[in-house]
Amino acid sequence: MALERTLSIIKPDATKRNLTGKIVAKFEDAGLRVVASKRIKMTRAQAEGFYAVHKDRPFYGELVEQMLAGPVVVQVLEGENAILKNREIMGATNPANAAPGTIRKEFALSVGENSVHGSDAPETAAEEIKFFFTADEIVG
Ligand code: CMP
Repeated sequence: MALERTLSIIKPDATKRNLTGKIVAKFEDAGLRVVASKRIKMTRAQAEGFYAVHKDRPFYGELVEQMLAGPVVVQVLEGENAILKNREIMGATNPANAAPGTIRKEFALSVGENSVHGSDAPETAAEEIKFFFTADEIVG
């Protein structure tokens, strides 16, 4: 088992519905620790840059607009196997396929408005954490 850090984003569809606390509780109840957290309104440049990997996908424009639709909560989660564990807590990208008890099964509205983002691998976790946080903002 490895102690890992991963980036989590609570997306606008969830912050607008006042679900931040319920979502953070899911992470904490599963043993992940919030070691950095801030509520921000992303700039267009941030949203486009964060999702640049998807820029050729047909849903890219919609993805960026959804990230700009309200505040987000960006967080660094730490724990044993945090990257995979976070993905398990979130559930499948499409809420129609998400397992019972997962964030997306309970809260997501659609594949686009799916309430949370989580890094998918160690390399992307490191890049995504650096995208939003400086080292001194992370207090483990
Ligand atoms: P996320 O984990 O933030 O990473 C990329 C996002 O693209 C994903 O969650 C979904 O919200 C979104 N996404 C993936 N597939 C589709 C799709 N077919 N249509 C719209 N959005 C999608």
